[in-house]
Amino acid sequence: MKRGRFPITDPILPQPAELAIVVPAYNEIDNVPLLVEAVATALPDVRWEIMFVDDDSPDGTAARVRELALGDHRVRIVHRVGRRGLSSACVEGIMATAAPYVAVMDADLQHDERLLGRMLATLRDGNVDLVVGSRYCAGGGLGDWTKGRVAASRLATRMAVMLTRTPIGDPMSGFFMMTRTAFERSLPKLSTVGFKILLDIAASAPAPLRVAELPYVFRCRQFGDSKLDALVLWEYLQLILDKAFGRVVPIRFIGFGLVGAMGLAIHFLILSTLYLGVGLSFGASQLAATVVAISNNFFLNNLLTYRDQRLRGPALIRGWLTFNLVCATGAIANIGIAEWLFVQHTYWMLSAVAGVLISVVWNYAMSSLFTWRK
Ligand code: GDD
Ligand code: MN
Repeated sequence: MKRGRFPITDPILPQPAELAIVVPAYNEIDNVPLLVEAVATALPDVRWEIMFVDDDSPDGTAARVRELALGDHRVRIVHRVGRRGLSSACVEGIMATAAPYVAVMDADLQHDERLLGRMLATLRDGNVDLVVGSRYCAGGGLGDWTKGRVAASRLATRMAVMLTRTPIGDPMSGFFMMTRTAFERSLPKLSTVGFKILLDIAASAPAPLRVAELPYVFRCRQFGDSKLDALVLWEYLQLILDKAFGRVVPIRFIGFGLVGAMGLAIHFLILSTLYLGVGLSFGASQLAATVVAISNNFFLNNLLTYRDQRLRGPALIRGWLTFNLVCATGAIANIGIAEWLFVQHTYWMLSAVAGVLISVVWNYAMSSLFTWRK
């Protein structure tokens, strides 16, 4: 192709967007058209595009977005299958556009789209990298949150501020706009686990970001349900741990190890109940304890450690089978290595610990290859 034809000035082609609004969406079929309309009203003089990132919502959100996209070229979609996760959805949406300014905003109309214009104006001035829609600065508010949620949010916020070095009043906000350049500086270090993409971006920045905050009131959701459940806390903990220790140990390994420790406790609980309490033979008690502990570890890892690649249906059964095989070979390695060290005159406790450690690493590596493979 001949060089030097760009920029294309064909009058029929739509002009490229200056601002991309990235919207993670899961089961938001009724909110999607309302949001597009609200954004169009809020940004009459801006060249924007809206990038929905849908994780194959069962309610048909993706089809709805495509319907809208056929009538308005500014509506776009990234449709992911077999994956879940708010942070990773935001990152992939940002990566899928060329716009120099990117915003992240929820699909459920809880974020005030009327802020977008002022956010963009602030970034265009060129003095900041990031504008946060903040529920805490003067004039912002929490809508009608319960007391418990307000307190939990404040505590998590305090932890986050300690971690990021960037002074953001509301680092847990899911509503912000930034320059692509600043985003790309954080990109190599992003954890992309969990819900807190802004916190992740701020904590991954090589130098503190220049930030402005604009207040807004968090609105109530009208259609659909919140996806934040009890496991959100676990995801938050994972992000914090990864930011603190991620350079030393992979975050999944920490999760895997924690689940493993829980499995060990369950093993001993069942073993002692059956052997000492019920009076079963040691071999039978040990077998029962092992089976239960392995299954426990499998289901917890599937729910927590590998939440973003959760196995379901037939894949769940296949996963359980491979996990049993992995753990069985891990146990053989454990016993073999401990025995070998012991024979070499290593202190018995040390031999045992070495055996356990090696089998944990083995189980982790092999199950990531065979059970939760990408
Ligand atoms: N693609 C995708 N995948 N989108 C998701 C997923 C997912 O796994 N989980 C949630 N979403 C989308 C929802 O459809 C919604 O548009 C947005 O992410 C936020 O999810 P909600 O379930 O509405 O969360 P919330 O209202 O409780 O939480 C909000 O407040 C937090 C502040 O406390 C969000 O704005 C958070 O980002 C924010 O941190
Ligand atoms: Mn919401």
